[in-house]
Amino acid sequence: MPTCLSDGFKVTAAALEAAITPRTKWLILNSPSNPTGAAYSGDELKALSEVLVRHPHVWTLSDDIYEHLTYGNFVFTTMAQVEPALRDRVLTVNGVSKSYAMTGWRIGYAGGPERLIKELEKLQSQQTSGACSIAQWAAVEALNGPQDYIAKSRSVFKERRDLVVSLLNEADHLKCPVPDGAFYVYPSCADAIGRSTRSGKFLRNDEDFAAALLEEEGAAVVHGAAFGQGPNFRLSYATSTEVLLDACARIQRFCSGLK
Ligand SMILES: Cc1ncc(COP(=O)(O)O)c(C=O)c1O
Repeated sequence: MPTCLSDGFKVTAAALEAAITPRTKWLILNSPSNPTGAAYSGDELKALSEVLVRHPHVWTLSDDIYEHLTYGNFVFTTMAQVEPALRDRVLTVNGVSKSYAMTGWRIGYAGGPERLIKELEKLQSQQTSGACSIAQWAAVEALNGPQDYIAKSRSVFKERRDLVVSLLNEADHLKCPVPDGAFYVYPSCADAIGRSTRSGKFLRNDEDFAAALLEEEGAAVVHGAAFGQGPNFRLSYATSTEVLLDACARIQRFCSGLK
């Protein structure tokens, strides 16, 4: 569903209500979000849940993969927590890729009503014949072992988020909101559209912006239209501070050359 910067890239209850039709089957909700970093507060989820209670044919898939990557005073909440009446039609999914930096281990998991999980098992056992048991045990260890790693990585990510947001806001023609979670920022490049780069390339849209930035400065971002939400771009700060400083300097140089 389309969202906007003024709503913090979050779906409102009114927009959800208006989008639901008799053919709607699932609401897929990802908070904190890839690509915008937006995260729904408990009150915001409660407002959405009140809409969903009125539409018993709609299920919710809550993708909580960035659960532990929230910053400042933000408190992570998930749909199954806020509205007990929805419990038998909420599927909560999570994994070890982000919180434990175990992307390569390929372990995700889900919790939901028994009859849905049984069907998921059937599908998954035919598609992948099950996750590797060694990776499963590594995930168990990550989840049951000491959790101090999470606080450490969260504080490093917060520093990187703040650094990237401030450097992008110093760049000409960009506006970068401060996201509450995940490891992405999603600045608007609306003011860069309709301008030309130093080498004379005219920027018609955010795709042109991202392509010219890559060609002229060697910095890679993903254009917002690829996610259905532009003119913006997504920058991931899941990399070293050194790389981020270099990338932001390149973006600043690129933007200062736009005419
Ligand atoms: C929103 C969201 N959900 C799920 C995943 C799944 O990650 P993986 O396949 O590494 O477990 C990702 C990874 O980028 C993601 O951004």
